[in-house]
Amino acid sequence: MGTSISIELSTHKKTKPLANERGFGTYFSDHMFIMDYAEGQGWYNPRVVPYQPISLDPAAKVFHYGQTIFEGLKAYKTGDGRVLLFRPRKNMERLNRSNDRLGVPHIDEDLALEALNALIKVDQDWIPEESGHSLYIRPYVIATQPALGVDASAEYKFMIIMSPVGNYYPEGVNPVKIYVENEYVRAVRGGVGEAKTAGNYAASLKAQEIAKQKGYSQVLWLDGVHRKYVEEVGSMNVFFKINGVVYTPALNGSILNGITRSSIIQLLRDWGLTVEETAISIEELFAAAQSGALEEAFGTGTAAVISPIGELNWKDEKAVIGGGVTGEISGKLYVTLTGIQRGLVPDPFGWMVE
Ligand code: COI
Repeated sequence: MGTSISIELSTHKKTKPLANERGFGTYFSDHMFIMDYAEGQGWYNPRVVPYQPISLDPAAKVFHYGQTIFEGLKAYKTGDGRVLLFRPRKNMERLNRSNDRLGVPHIDEDLALEALNALIKVDQDWIPEESGHSLYIRPYVIATQPALGVDASAEYKFMIIMSPVGNYYPEGVNPVKIYVENEYVRAVRGGVGEAKTAGNYAASLKAQEIAKQKGYSQVLWLDGVHRKYVEEVGSMNVFFKINGVVYTPALNGSILNGITRSSIIQLLRDWGLTVEETAISIEELFAAAQSGALEEAFGTGTAAVISPIGELNWKDEKAVIGGGVTGEISGKLYVTLTGIQRGLVPDPFGWMVE
């Protein structure tokens, strides 16, 4: 594209949180990336600037009609000081698929990756080195045109912010209890479920709240039409190992096309396991859980990587999975994937980018 990114360095450095204070997405690094869009002009003024509040017109479309999309990926620091990113181009490709669905203009993927590199370079001392810790990167686009007409915005901002994070679950990789949600759905086919857009997450909050009140960590989402087929767990993709075969819901337009999801499928197949991407009915799944045929279940995502499921509650019936402890495949996937990401084990698929 040939657009050069300007860099304005911060004059004072923030105090970094201690490892045990990091949590997930509560502290932000010294700088951020911003680029603007105007109809007729395209994307312009790509810049790294000190992390700061932005000023928006109260009529900005993002506030009213939710025209916004985001991405999530992580940077890791290796023992010998190298900085690694996990499949960053995949995120930028998905960013544009989400843009497409939400009527947002495309962003040049090479420029977006260049922006990412420029930002990480100025804030690389924010990348944690502890096991399980990383720098979470949040690229996102918001519609900024001040106008209340319901049509695609003529102005946008593309921004990237970064946050040093610890383990997503402070208690570590332990099985969580999951409530099968029978009433609310997060997305429907033909809607925006496959896009990484704010509304899907907003739509998930009420059911999550109710599940929490009942003593469950997250919900298992069923399809929006029949409440029959499993879609996702919390904000993650979901996998089940039944009688030795691994199943995950096939991408059907309402399920997020997770980068961790596709990497896990590749890893499992490389290990010689059969992985089937198919429709999974809750009835069959629950029966498998009750009979003990369901050996392992886990969620996958960038934030938590692997999140084992130890118990399901469907219509107030309970089934414990794998004795309620982390299964063999779940544990091996977590160790292997985080090992590849931190440069500790060989990267057979060339996923990491320095
Ligand atoms: C992830 O699992 O990485 C997600 O997408 C959840 C995120 C919104 C925190």
